[in-house]
Amino acid sequence: MRFDNKCALVTGGGSGIGRAVCLAFAREGANVGVADVSLEGAETTAQGVRKSGRKAVALSVDVTDPASVQAMVNQAVAALGRIDLLVNSAGVREIVPFLQLPFAEWQRVIATNLTGTFLCSQAVAQYLVAQGKGGKIVNLASVAGLMAVPNRAAYVSSKHAVVGLTKEMALELADKNIQVNAVAPGVVRTSMTESYFDKPEVVEGLKRAHPAGRWALPEEIANLILFLASPDADFITGATFPIDGGFMAGKAF
Ligand SMILES: NC(=O)c1ccc[n+]([C@@H]2O[C@H](COP(=O)([O-])OP(=O)(O)OC[C@H]3O[C@@H](n4cnc5c(N)ncnc54)[C@H](O)[C@@H]3O)[C@@H](O)[C@H]2O)c1
Repeated sequence: MRFDNKCALVTGGGSGIGRAVCLAFAREGANVGVADVSLEGAETTAQGVRKSGRKAVALSVDVTDPASVQAMVNQAVAALGRIDLLVNSAGVREIVPFLQLPFAEWQRVIATNLTGTFLCSQAVAQYLVAQGKGGKIVNLASVAGLMAVPNRAAYVSSKHAVVGLTKEMALELADKNIQVNAVAPGVVRTSMTESYFDKPEVVEGLKRAHPAGRWALPEEIANLILFLASPDADFITGATFPIDGGFMAGKAF
């Protein structure tokens, strides 16, 4: 299998896209460190990984806290023996007009999505360099990392910065055989977006915004992330891939 003898660490693994990534890695042979601020969510995912016959460890982490992130890396290595792959899926999003966005909310979103991706990537990359066998990092950007979306100033800024950080890490880590890429999903049905589906007018808007006429399932995003984490992607680094049913392809009149 593609990920036999590999160990993957997934932040935000307790829900949504992160959970789908953990379960897909397990089906393809990887042992998985499932890290989340919700230990309960991480434990549920870890049980799913174990059902595939792979090792899993549930880890409590706050990706905004450097000490917590270092402890996550140490605990993953202690439990699994090594780390080869990191997926940064922990994330939060506000829906607040720019003129009313409280400073604390701006800080929360930037700290989780941008600083969290920096802290986890740096701690894992330091470990990968010491391990000396290369590795791969996949970041969660968004179509909101490539264009503006109303009422999401902090989210849009954080995801644009993740696209930049992905390029920067790719440049600085290429000679260590560490590839760094990002995915940019359109709307994916997860707990982050569940409230959209209560409102028929929002559902109609989602269908119009995605030329494919629908939103994504977390498993569809996991498929692209696994490709980018696999040896088939050894010559791909610094890139951000839309996976959005055509959302970024253009705007209808
Ligand atoms: N759902 C979408 O439509 C969509 C679209 C594009 C990008 N994304 C991105 O995909 C990623 C995953 O989102 P999702 O849709 O699976 O959402 P989700 O809410 O289902 O999962 C996010 C997870 O991150 C965890 N988390 C939040 N703050 C954390 C912290 N400080 N430390 C550790 N864990 C923390 C949450 O507990 C949760 O389990 C996010 O980065 C999100 O921005 C989602």
